[in-house]
Amino acid sequence: MGYRGLGLLYSMQNNFPIVVLLSGRGSNFRALTQRLSDAHICAVISDRTEAPGLEFAREQGIKTFAFARQDFPTKIAQKEAIYSAVDSFKSKLIVLAGFMQIIEAPFVERNLGRILNIHPSLLPRHPGLHTHERALEAKDEEHGCTVHFVDAGVDTGPVVAQAATKIAPGESAEALAGRVLALEHDIYPWAVSHIARGEISISGREVSYSVRCRAEADGHGFRIGREACPQAAGSNGA
Ligand code: GAR
Repeated sequence: MGYRGLGLLYSMQNNFPIVVLLSGRGSNFRALTQRLSDAHICAVISDRTEAPGLEFAREQGIKTFAFARQDFPTKIAQKEAIYSAVDSFKSKLIVLAGFMQIIEAPFVERNLGRILNIHPSLLPRHPGLHTHERALEAKDEEHGCTVHFVDAGVDTGPVVAQAATKIAPGESAEALAGRVLALEHDIYPWAVSHIARGEISISGREVSYSVRCRAEADGHGFRIGREACPQAAGSNGA
């Protein structure tokens, strides 16, 4: 049996199916396919038919679905189609990997604690777009990325983990973006795998970690709990 066959067999044995939503290049999705453990990606869903991440998913033999805006009379009709497709997989976790759409509150509410996002800043600093440029403009000493559960706000959900890096003197936004993206590729599969193993869990807005998970986070240099986001209500201490 080849490597792909073994991977397929393994993925059928673990019972933590996840659905990935993406809009573009899909490098975080690619990192998930390479580094995830104890979870398997059952589908990749996009709001853009031409998203390069979809092509990579097809090459990996993962089911893909695209719902382009022009195929629907309204934006909300497009989003409802995306949500129906996500629901149809009854996945344990919905993983946003560069999905550049606001998720409507009713979908969030019926999936509370089951939607995960990665954002390229150390939240609560720099929610929204152009985070690398804004970190430089603000003369931040450090920058990084945040894995968080999604709530009804924009980049306001309970923080799971952060990876930080010092901003180098004179660093360009492109160079900083590249360094942060490499951190994203480490921390996102790590976080999803630990959620799949039950070593990271959420109750209300409170994120909890197993002792082993805390030690591992420390070893990787990831910030979790209050260390990650002191202002976040309900994050329990690391
Ligand atoms: C990543 O940097 C991700 O953090 C960001 O989009 C990029 C997607 O890259 N997401 C957001 O800004 C969401 N607010 P990728 O398609 O190569 O994974």
